[in-house]
Amino acid sequence: MKMRPLILALMSLFTASALADTPQQILAVYQQQAGQASATRGEAFFHAKITRDGQTESCASCHTDNPKAIGKTRAHKRIEPLAPVANRDRLTDPAKVEKWFRRNCKDVLARECSAQEKADFVAFLISVK
Ligand code: HEC
Repeated sequence: MKMRPLILALMSLFTASALADTPQQILAVYQQQAGQASATRGEAFFHAKITRDGQTESCASCHTDNPKAIGKTRAHKRIEPLAPVANRDRLTDPAKVEKWFRRNCKDVLARECSAQEKADFVAFLISVK
C-alpha cells in the first residue's frame, strides 16, 4: 500500500505542465513556446492603444491602467483586478487564461496574441508588487 503515494507523486510530476496552477507555472509553459519573457514588454503591451475603424482600444480600457485596480466591461460589469498580488485567483487556471487571451486579443487586436505576447503579459502581471 506504500506504492500509491509514490505513484501519485510521479503522476503529478508528469502532468505538471499540463495542469499548471501557479502563475509561475503558467509563465513557464508560455516561455517553453516563446522563449524568455519580458515584463517591460508586457507592460507596454498592456497600455498600448490600438485604433481600428475609428475606435481606440487597449487592454487597459477594461482593466484600467492599474492591474491592481477593479475594472469594468463595456456593459459596466465589474472585473476583478488582473494582478495576482491583488487577486489570488488570477493566473491559476490555464484554460481560463487561454480563453480570455483568445477573446480579449481578438477584441483589441483583431487577432490572437502570440505565445511571446502572452509570456510577456503574464511576466508583467507577476512582476506587479
Ligand atoms: C472589453 C473588455 C476587456 C478588454 C478590452 C480586455 N479584457 Fe481581459 N478580461 C475581461 C473580462 C470580462 C475578463 C474575465 C472576467 C474576470 O476574469 O474577471 C478578462 C480576463 C482576462 C484574463 C484572465 C486572467 C485570469 O487568470 O483570470 C487575462 C489574462 C486578460 N483578461 C488579459 C487581457 C489582455 C492581454 C487584454 C488586451 C489584449 C485584455 N485582457 C483586454 C475584459 C476585457
